[in-house]
Amino acid sequence: MILGVNIDHVATVREARKGMEPDPVMAATLAVLGGADGITVHLREDRRHIHDRDLKILREVVPFELNLEMAATKEMIGIALRVKPDMVTLVPEKREELTTEGGLDVKWQKSKLKNAIKRIQGAGILVSLFIDPSTDAIAVSKETCADMVEIHTGLYANAKGNKQQKELIKVVRSVKDALSLGLGANAGHGLNYFNVKSVAGIEGLRGLYIGHSIVSRAVLVGMERAVREMKELISG
Ligand code: PXP
Repeated sequence: MILGVNIDHVATVREARKGMEPDPVMAATLAVLGGADGITVHLREDRRHIHDRDLKILREVVPFELNLEMAATKEMIGIALRVKPDMVTLVPEKREELTTEGGLDVKWQKSKLKNAIKRIQGAGILVSLFIDPSTDAIAVSKETCADMVEIHTGLYANAKGNKQQKELIKVVRSVKDALSLGLGANAGHGLNYFNVKSVAGIEGLRGLYIGHSIVSRAVLVGMERAVREMKELISG
């Protein structure tokens, strides 16, 4: 099972001061040391966290799967063709959202997605589509000629009890459907240290893409050491 670590929110902290730290590139190299199989960044139209500079340097230092999440716009496709990540995950993007809110509307955007996928694949880059866990969305994804899908686990992650079990069944079914059509199947969004196990146990799943919970834990597990180091510096 691949773990793709999304480091967007390291950049979110940097952007709180518009300075140089913490550098998401440094976080990426530490994530690799920790066993990450890949690094994911979402280059947003408004550049609210990850910047073009980050993506460019990441391409130079990430030794394996660099996954670029992006909207299927002319600007982003141009960037992908120049930077050449190993993989592009196409996501819907709204300026006003805090994070990606749902899967792509593959049915309505089918021909636009198909054209984008063809161009990106032409540069030797794998393409994944971020979709809701629905049989229809998977069938349409296959028609777009995408290599893989990433099943949106947000509803599963936010649900509780029986509702969560129902959402999990949808994810399991979607993975099965994707595999039966020859699509690679990934999952992600909202996964954390408490809800990840059931998803990680889904047979045939290729990888999980996780960001916020890992960056959140990194802040907490690193706090004690960071304070101790500052204390040492200021203590005569
Ligand atoms: N997968 C996709 C397509 C996403 O847009 C995101 C959020 O950027 C993630 C996975 C990671 O989600 P989270 O930060 O909730 O782990």
